[in-house]
Amino acid sequence: MNSLRMTSLDFKDPDFINNPYPALKELRSVGAPVWHDELGVFLAAKYNDANDVLRTKTLGRIFVAKQPANEWQEFNWLHSDSLLDSEPPKHTRLRSLVAKAFNRHRIEALRPDIERLTDSLLDEIAKKKDFDIIADYAEPLPVKVIASLLGFPDSDEYLLRPWSQAIVKMYEVNPSHKDQIAAQTAGREFAEYVHGLMLDRKVNPGADLISELAQVEEAGEKLSTQELIATCVLLLNAGHEASVNGFGNGIVAAWQHPSEWEKLQKRPFEVAETAVEEFLRFDAPLHYFERTATADTQISGVMVAQGQKIVSLLGSANRDEEIFANSDEMNVERNPNPHIGFGAGIHFCLGGPLARLEMSISLPALFARFPDVHLVGEPLRRPTFSLRGYETISARI
Ligand code: HEM
Repeated sequence: MNSLRMTSLDFKDPDFINNPYPALKELRSVGAPVWHDELGVFLAAKYNDANDVLRTKTLGRIFVAKQPANEWQEFNWLHSDSLLDSEPPKHTRLRSLVAKAFNRHRIEALRPDIERLTDSLLDEIAKKKDFDIIADYAEPLPVKVIASLLGFPDSDEYLLRPWSQAIVKMYEVNPSHKDQIAAQTAGREFAEYVHGLMLDRKVNPGADLISELAQVEEAGEKLSTQELIATCVLLLNAGHEASVNGFGNGIVAAWQHPSEWEKLQKRPFEVAETAVEEFLRFDAPLHYFERTATADTQISGVMVAQGQKIVSLLGSANRDEEIFANSDEMNVERNPNPHIGFGAGIHFCLGGPLARLEMSISLPALFARFPDVHLVGEPLRRPTFSLRGYETISARI
């Protein structure tokens, strides 16, 4: 066994959040998972280790209920009853109920709708000249697409991002007291709202996923009410959060690499597919995924004892110089690009085909419609690491 290496990396340090990649590179240089004493977790920063963490069966997503239980009631079951936070056999059962709605074939059929939505957002931008890439483009598209798939009413779409933002702040290292209260409230309101939708769809079914799942719940064997609500909330959140951030992170990075911006301007459709993958590799929207050992497990010679935690650092894995040539350079034509931005193993992103389709339509469409689009001033980053993204990105056409 390698001798244990330690780190006291501060995940909340503004300099780290501004650019975490030099510190992550240092972690990788150790060549094996590193122990973080304050957090009490191992950090797997190298590609092969981060990948192994996600694929090893004895490293599970084990949700630990937050205390006091009465204050965290809805937040707790929104997690413990969703597929993301469960392990087989419950995970297998829940995933199989929703998987077919997100398979490549069903998602490809959404192409005309996504193209229409993209065009209408671009029409609005054309009227404004100055716009925010996040609020006016990157955010509304995935929000509208996932809301329509689930049958979430258009008129209430504005509720989704604030609820989701409040809940996901709990995935950061050491969330503040204020963020904890906001997450409890959002969890309660979101759960109540989706419960209302489920009850309505039992009486007035539509051609949407909530209606479909409401029938399964009614049958009573495969899905409980809480599992239905938790899974729909997960889909509504996961269905837009990383897509918004992935688009924004990639746009800013491309702007900072003029040769890559030029490729997007000059050959938007030709480079779209590889550019989307490079956006997700170069400045990942999701960085920090914890697993708990259900039995003693070795990762690169480091023993993770039963009950201990290890984190898969996806954004670091995607910069691993042993896997990606010139890993700190953005190259929108990079191919092959085996990034693990969508995860790996049994929790591999269910929405990968949807996210890829949305971005591969919206990215080239922006440059094709407005070849002179450019950023204005400094984009404003959110002060978070696990979910990495921008608050606003001012731009002009
Ligand atoms: C660029 C956009 C996206 C990225 C980078 C991303 C990334 C990820 C990652 C890394 C995981 C694995 C988490 C883990 O192993 O602990 C995951 C899981 C998941 N994602 Fe995504 N995602 C994206 C978009 C979407 C979309 C559009 C949906 C819409 C349905 C979605 C739904 C899910 C679900 C349901 C899971 C849980 C799967 C399971 O536990 O079996 N994601 N995603």
